[in-house]
Amino acid sequence: MKSIKVFVLFGLLFIRTLALADEGMWLPLLLAKLNEKEMRGMGMKITAEDIYSINKSSLKDAIVSFGGFCTGEVISSQGLLLTNHHCGFGAIQSHTTLQNNYIDNGFWAMSTKDELPNPNLFVTFIIRIDDVTSAVLNGVTGGMTESERQSQIDKNINTLRNAAKREAYQDILVRPFFEGNQYYLFVTETYRDVRLVGAPPSSIGNFGKDTDNWMWPRHTGDFSMFRIYADKNNKPAAYSPDNVPYKPKRSLSISLDGVSQDDFTMVFGFPGRTNQYLPAVAVEQLIEVNNPAKIKIRDQVLSVMDAYMRTDDQIKIQYAAKWASVSNAWKKWQGELLGLTRVDGVGRKKKLETEFQNRVNANPELKSKYGTVLSDLNKAYDELKSYGLARDYYTEIISRIELFTIAAQLNMLVAAFDNDGQGGYNTRLPQIKSRLASFYGDYSPVVDQKMTAVLLTLYVNDQDEKFRSKLLNEKLKAHQGDFEKLSKALFAETDIDDKQHTVNLLDKPAKEVVESIRNNSIVLLFLDMQNVFQNQVQQNLNPIQDRINALQRTYMAAQMEVFKEKRFYPDANSTLRLTYGKVDGYVPRDGIRFDYYSYLDGVMEKYKPGDYEFDLPAKLIDLYKKKDYGQYGVYGKLPVNFIAANHTSGGNSGSPALDAWGNLVGLNFDRVWEGTMSDINYDPSICRNIMVDIRYILFIVDKYAGAGHLVNEMNLVRPKTKK
Ligand code: ARG
Ligand code: GLU
Repeated sequence: MKSIKVFVLFGLLFIRTLALADEGMWLPLLLAKLNEKEMRGMGMKITAEDIYSINKSSLKDAIVSFGGFCTGEVISSQGLLLTNHHCGFGAIQSHTTLQNNYIDNGFWAMSTKDELPNPNLFVTFIIRIDDVTSAVLNGVTGGMTESERQSQIDKNINTLRNAAKREAYQDILVRPFFEGNQYYLFVTETYRDVRLVGAPPSSIGNFGKDTDNWMWPRHTGDFSMFRIYADKNNKPAAYSPDNVPYKPKRSLSISLDGVSQDDFTMVFGFPGRTNQYLPAVAVEQLIEVNNPAKIKIRDQVLSVMDAYMRTDDQIKIQYAAKWASVSNAWKKWQGELLGLTRVDGVGRKKKLETEFQNRVNANPELKSKYGTVLSDLNKAYDELKSYGLARDYYTEIISRIELFTIAAQLNMLVAAFDNDGQGGYNTRLPQIKSRLASFYGDYSPVVDQKMTAVLLTLYVNDQDEKFRSKLLNEKLKAHQGDFEKLSKALFAETDIDDKQHTVNLLDKPAKEVVESIRNNSIVLLFLDMQNVFQNQVQQNLNPIQDRINALQRTYMAAQMEVFKEKRFYPDANSTLRLTYGKVDGYVPRDGIRFDYYSYLDGVMEKYKPGDYEFDLPAKLIDLYKKKDYGQYGVYGKLPVNFIAANHTSGGNSGSPALDAWGNLVGLNFDRVWEGTMSDINYDPSICRNIMVDIRYILFIVDKYAGAGHLVNEMNLVRPKTKK
């Protein structure tokens, strides 16, 4: 009787903390086994085989990794591709000049001839996925060190890769899952001729900018369109004017019927990185040490950029993408802290760990395998703490002082020359030249000089002596400890901040170039800071991190063995995943309930003429006044954004939101503020993903931009209203 009671209690506890509905980023090839039944129960009308199949065309054939950092989907038989505005932004910015300002005014190719090529952009399709765990772990034993283990794994992966069946134009990827307890192989196809087709003005595509970012209610038309090009045989090919629009195996049908409360939805894409299985101590460190430090540094970075971007239009364009990426994570970390604190993420983890330890201790076999894994993790994370902080300082600061970016690039030439002589140098040179050419296009030494002063201040004042460069200390002393003076002197001493100077330098004979770089004062300072980092931080951190990785692997295996009642999904790792959940609002705070839909009326309510975040194009206002929504409106209103309980993450930007039939109903682009902690601690009551309603996108394309020819390419359906 007692044991039944205890069992029921456990059951309840774990239904709450473990078996959360909607949680999970699932592997497409395992849907039939793990999820299909539940999905059908939630309202799905298609089968797992319709979503992922290696025998017939399936939904997965319409999904791509967009440039490795976002997701995109094919929406016409002519290779038309949909993704977010913020995903296409790099491309949009690269074609923008003060004269042709596509960021401000939008861009629309009125025929395929006008579509704009993007040299470094690519999209990758997943052809098939296989479980290769036993082949990869073959010969791996418990007694191995981490590096022995890794080299055995690398060897096995190599063998696998060589043996895998693939076409000449396909690639093979093998990735670890569940902290290295499982491995999957991916056959992929990458297309490298991807052209910009259309983008709304930023005032639509990024409406609400930083104020609204990571927030609900939202009113953003965060989309852009591209087209995949292939060679005459429909195969991947480098850019060529002779390439033709790609004919996809599958393109998504688009539903004009929208979604309503509790409708089944799923999001298919490439979430980047989550940490769902960390111990409490790691979450605590993130809350107390790492997030606050990174937020503090970025506060400074943003205020420097902001000051210049507000007063100089050229700088505003040059720094737009850098701003967006710095501010995006900066704001997310703050939301994460808030959410983790509010739901007591650490406390929840601790509760789980107590239960874990109790179960382990009660079973001699488990105890001998996993008895100390948690205490070992606690110890290792404590040792990591100060080095982890120093690592964050170094990476956040070094990567934002752009003079060091130049120094690092130039130094690669020295390394190539030293390691492989003139031949090595010659191979490296064109790479470095092309990287620097695009770098200088978006570089302002004025901004950088201020940034250098501000960030070096943090580097020196916030850090223990042992983590700081001696050379920097000397230089600082020489300028009476004044960081502004120091920075001014650093820029005066060197010419590498000047594009023309660097171009001229790189045209000289290798020996001369290498000599000059070797003696450059910025390169020397950069190398000294790098050395200190390597010797004082990395040398200590790496062995601890290795230990942690091994322990996390054990802890993962242990959780799967100890909590047998739970269905586990692997952390995100930029591989293709499916998540599903119902359309639903949420309660952000006591007494407030958020609805799940927003409309154009709400866009107009936020409208602030001339404001840099909430301005709107005149034509949109005009369409609103006339209520000219065509087939995209419902009951006189135009749906703009909606939310649902899909478990998404960074990298899911641009992912399709699909209805019960697998039709495209929305475009994923964000999460709600209260739920940004879902990467670490998913909570079904407040974690929601935010999507643009597909009807808003079609309205903008058709009614606003007059690019109805693109809508004509698509397959529009009405699964709910007209069967
Ligand atoms: N927060 C979303 C994401 O992580 C949107 C970012 C783009 N928007 C912005 N205002 N920066 O990508
Ligand atoms: N905006 C994010 C991205 O770029 C997706 C939203 C999220 O992180 O949930 O991938």
